[in-house]
Amino acid sequence: MKRQRIQELLKESKTEQQVLVCGWVRTKRESRHCTFIELSDGSCQKTLQLVADPDCAAYAGLKQLLTGCALKAWGTLKESPAKGQSRELHLEGFEVLGLSDQSYPLQKKGHSLEFLREIAHLRPRTNTFGAVFRVRDAIAQEVHRFFRQRGFLWAHTPILTASDCEGAGELFRVSTHRDPSHAQASSAEETQSEFFGRAAHLTVSGQLEAECMAMSLGQVYTFGPTFRAENSNTSRHLAEFWMVEPEVAFADLPEIMTLAEDFIRALVAAVLKECPDELAFFEKMYRNIRISELETLASETFARISYTDAIALLKDGAKKTRFEFQPEWGADLQTEHERFLSETVFGKPVIVHDYPKDIKAFYMRLNDDMRTVAAMDVLVPGLGELIGGSQREERLGHLEARMKEMEIPTQDLQWYLDLRRFGTAPHAGFGMGFERMVMYLTGMQNIRDSILCPRTPKSIHF
Ligand code: 4AD
Ligand code: MG
Repeated sequence: MKRQRIQELLKESKTEQQVLVCGWVRTKRESRHCTFIELSDGSCQKTLQLVADPDCAAYAGLKQLLTGCALKAWGTLKESPAKGQSRELHLEGFEVLGLSDQSYPLQKKGHSLEFLREIAHLRPRTNTFGAVFRVRDAIAQEVHRFFRQRGFLWAHTPILTASDCEGAGELFRVSTHRDPSHAQASSAEETQSEFFGRAAHLTVSGQLEAECMAMSLGQVYTFGPTFRAENSNTSRHLAEFWMVEPEVAFADLPEIMTLAEDFIRALVAAVLKECPDELAFFEKMYRNIRISELETLASETFARISYTDAIALLKDGAKKTRFEFQPEWGADLQTEHERFLSETVFGKPVIVHDYPKDIKAFYMRLNDDMRTVAAMDVLVPGLGELIGGSQREERLGHLEARMKEMEIPTQDLQWYLDLRRFGTAPHAGFGMGFERMVMYLTGMQNIRDSILCPRTPKSIHF
């Protein structure tokens, strides 16, 4: 008999048919007449109830089964007379694939997310993390569908690089040397013995390489892991996170803002469609998302406001709300400011644009006022910054001047400047933190709970 997934069985299959399933025992309950087992196989939020009555041949063997063991089970699928499930499996036989014992950490009682982080290898078996990872998958699949429908190419940009895209210096050095003093080496002589003959790092963003692809193929996106040695142990930062970065030739800032809006709405709509049980679970158990609000979000337009106007609103807000950091023109927005704008002022996502050049990366296009750049951030309620993007500086002279001002060595980025030397054109793009999107749609409050193996300062287990 062919193995079937619980998701299929609960959806369309006819009852009164013989089926075979495999999964892990969530719970076992013995009543006077029957033994009930809840089996989960990770295919959906629901479990399949196995019912064994004392007459069935398999009955005696059920004694040894404990929470966590892996089973292959077969029998007849029937309408369930009880509430809580539509079908159940009347057990005729089973095979234990792997036993478990009393020390299995996921016993029936609820566990704190903090505890589950310590057993990240087992937490995908819980309701919560099964749901997180199915939502994560639904978002990832929609990323590809969304861009493909619009004629974007998926560009594969390198993970090992010699440049610091964001210019913020939060790089992980990659070296084959065992001597830790080498990690500090920077002179040409010292780095000559490196594997690449020079210092190499893990990428912080695929953007600069994506620009090469956009300036030849037109519109592309990257979707891959990025690394930042940010020593900020916050609930929104990881040292290894995934980013989606579209880059569009001939586009300006407003065009990319509209693309970002459409993109977020498409991801929200996909999860509403594909993961209704998961969303219902998060709404009920964690209360950080509301499905009705997500439905509104999937169709409404976002607010747009310039950084300068946002600062004015924040200064006004500071009269009533106590901020830890006072909003000041020229300073970066803090998470409390981002959330005030999206939650209190607009009550929906807001795109803040045209930031002061001194708090943004070297590649952003200088505006005519000479003090702001064509940058934008998408801020969402409950989270803050979800997306950061900009129109790129396509004028060679302007870019060189800016790099000089910011003391960014140009010799390593001649290839990037070549894009401006030969057939330059306006272009723009953005980056969406993938785990932030998972947080946004599940309501998980800590980014460590949006990825299988979170990497944060002083933590790289599993
Ligand atoms: O705003 P960021 O730094 O922008 C870039 O990297 C640009 N190169 C993007 C582009 O224009 N192509 O990062 C983009 C997004 C942020 O808005 C945030 O959602 C996420 O990446 N992000 C992080 N997510 C988790 N952990 C971190 N340490 C993150 N740093 C940024
Ligand atoms: Mg940013």
